[in-house]
Amino acid sequence: MPVITCIEDLRQIYQRRAPRMFYDYAESGSWTEQTFRENTTDFAKIRLRQRVAVDMLNRSTRSTMIGEEVAMPVALAPVGLTGMQHADGEILAARAAEAFGVPFTLSTMSICSIEDVAAHTTKPFWFQLYVMKDQDFVSRTLARAKAAGVSALVLTLDLQILGQRHRDLKNGLSAPPKLTLPTMMNLATKWRWGMGMLGTKRRFFGNIVGHAKGVADASSLSSWTAEQFDPQLDWSKVARLKEEWGGKLILKGILDAEDARMAAEVGADAIIVSNHGGRQLDGALSSIRVLPSILDAVGDRVEVHLDGGIRSGQDVLKAVAMGARGTYIGRAFVYGLGALGQAGVTRALEVIHRELDISMALCGERDVHDLGRHNLLVPKDFE
Ligand code: FNR
Repeated sequence: MPVITCIEDLRQIYQRRAPRMFYDYAESGSWTEQTFRENTTDFAKIRLRQRVAVDMLNRSTRSTMIGEEVAMPVALAPVGLTGMQHADGEILAARAAEAFGVPFTLSTMSICSIEDVAAHTTKPFWFQLYVMKDQDFVSRTLARAKAAGVSALVLTLDLQILGQRHRDLKNGLSAPPKLTLPTMMNLATKWRWGMGMLGTKRRFFGNIVGHAKGVADASSLSSWTAEQFDPQLDWSKVARLKEEWGGKLILKGILDAEDARMAAEVGADAIIVSNHGGRQLDGALSSIRVLPSILDAVGDRVEVHLDGGIRSGQDVLKAVAMGARGTYIGRAFVYGLGALGQAGVTRALEVIHRELDISMALCGERDVHDLGRHNLLVPKDFE
């Protein structure tokens, strides 16, 4: 294995190895990509306070997210088409997360099915739901998740309408990829991805498309999404889905204090402060920047989690010290998976854990629960 010391190393290997269409799918944001960029650059504006001469012998990053024990306050975010980045991608990522002791979230838009992932893991995982117009599809999917022992439902609220990503349109991203001359040439030189896609079509259709009413083909992902996703999702539907699910519920895609209050009102166990990794409303503020206003709005009525722009353990430290109970990584684990399969996801988690542990110690903290605003210098306009 090449020497990998940081997430950026994994990104570079992934970029070298992956066909451009798949790299672009992961590494892009919507429209001008301002929000996508600021998710990471805003983390860099928060600085850490160094402390010295503190006993650092016994340290712990262990915590809980919605009551589940985690080796560190980091979960794998739901990422659609993970199985196109590597054969059995969702299974490999779930196994890496399970071995490390952090939650894995399976996307509705997965290649491997809920049942596939359940058959290859031993602990319950989380499942992310996109609400489709077809209510039977939603009910059947919830029933499948329950039968597979899923321990929390992550309901994504910020993708009723798909934001536009220029690169996906230009690359003609589809599931499975269309075999045009340029894609075939690209895949011929990137054989590992070609292998990864054998079975992709059958699986994706079996898993998602085949279950949604009246769909014969998912040739263009954006037009299929536009047809299927429920543009009328509102808080009353969220409440009904909570009832139907009956288990732990995490609401994903909250960026506004008023929406955070509504989520607490509905009785969610947690919310994820998220702008979908800068893939939906370009021009929205970064997640870390809105976190303080959301914490002020909900107090301790609901657990507040955050994703968007986390590329290091220092970023995790900053989010937790600002008040987030947990964080999620999206691209950081996809880079690892695309670069090196399951070992790459494990490496991404190891890198982040090590950075978190060392940075905590250098901030004078032994326990992740002791992190707080006293560890940070936060720019005034983050309030
Ligand atoms: C996503 N995200 C996402 N979210 C979701 O709820 N369902 C999904 O299917 C997907 N699919 C998806 C694909 C890809 C390629 C990316 C990069 C992201 C958003 C994801 O869960 C998370 O919010 C962001 O990835 C967090 O930002 P970072 O960590 O990627 O910067």
